[in-house]
Amino acid sequence: MAFRKLSDVEAKGKRALVRVDFNVPMQDGEVSDDTRLKAALPTIKALSWKGAKVILLAHFDRPKGKRVPAMSLKPVVAPLAKLLGAPVAFAEDCVGADAKAAIDALPEGGVILLENTRFHAGEEKNDPALAKEIAALGDIYVNDAFSAAHRAHASTEGVAHLLPAYAGLSMQKELEALDAALGNPKRPVMGIVGGSKVSSKLELLTNLVTKLDKLAIGGGMANTFLYAQGHEIGISYAEKDMADTAREIIRLAGKNNCELLLPVDIVVAEVVQPGAPARVRGLGQVDEHERILDCGPESVARLGRAMETSATLIWNGPLGVFEMPPFDKGTVAAAKIAAGLAKQKKLIAVAGGGDTVSALNHAGVTGDFTFISTAGGAFLEWMEGKELPGVAALET
Ligand code: 3PG
Repeated sequence: MAFRKLSDVEAKGKRALVRVDFNVPMQDGEVSDDTRLKAALPTIKALSWKGAKVILLAHFDRPKGKRVPAMSLKPVVAPLAKLLGAPVAFAEDCVGADAKAAIDALPEGGVILLENTRFHAGEEKNDPALAKEIAALGDIYVNDAFSAAHRAHASTEGVAHLLPAYAGLSMQKELEALDAALGNPKRPVMGIVGGSKVSSKLELLTNLVTKLDKLAIGGGMANTFLYAQGHEIGISYAEKDMADTAREIIRLAGKNNCELLLPVDIVVAEVVQPGAPARVRGLGQVDEHERILDCGPESVARLGRAMETSATLIWNGPLGVFEMPPFDKGTVAAAKIAAGLAKQKKLIAVAGGGDTVSALNHAGVTGDFTFISTAGGAFLEWMEGKELPGVAALET
């Protein structure tokens, strides 16, 4: 897809409205993970250096159209200024006279963060009147929030139609990496999808089996597939009512020549507790009082062989209960294989989704992956093959 890029912008003297995603984890009113702040820095710096006034628009949490003090973006100002190495002004509202006055007072190259866009009910409704008020504060619009691009909101979609609109550098990087992983991948392309529920990843699995050469299914959702194939799964978590759906996905995979990799061995325990005694079992050897909590070593070895013979990997979702050692072993081992191959440039390894990034962080391998998306929901919708309204609005 073609979109206007930051390199096309004549920014000097312009007021640049930049949509960022500062929906960051906070603890006791302080930013506890600044990944998304860091992701926005290249765009902020580029525009600032070009002499634009950089006006940051963002949402935080889900205040549902009301001013909720605990959901203010103010706590973001200090850590952002520190990362930027420059002052960041703040306006108590994302529209109106005070915001305009604060923007007027900014020097060229200055940066200001506007208060949570979701304090206005019109934001999530994509109200044209709010979009117009926001647009009145800028000369150009830059969307750098891929992770919020699945929302058709006033600040992510509406305003893009009212001003010359550009993709920011982080948005551009995400789109290019994701296109290289699924849009136009180097083949063979393999997917790893984990997590607990088939029901929440149904569209994703259905889309992936038509696009990938191999798809490995892990985590709790693999139990549903094993159950659907008639294997004993004891008291494992599974969506038994999704058995027909799982069989349909297996059929679709066959029809589309997508090799489906389900666990060939598993790790079980009687209780879901950190450090619980764990045993490796073959398929069909699970006792009635045991639960499957991870994939086994043979499954990991097979995943490794599949990765070695792939050119591209796209990963979403952990393979076991990775938050609870020893049930993190499968995820950690597979992540290390992927990272090792990516480091040697033998594999383009792309990952995304909230849990996935935590799992890869836990494995200590995020730095070696080719690309890690900052997005949660948007990454999933993109993997489902859906059009993201925030991205579509940037198309030329
Ligand atoms: C995210 O954190 O995934 C995005 O900021 C979107 O947030 P939302 O799910 O509240 O729309």
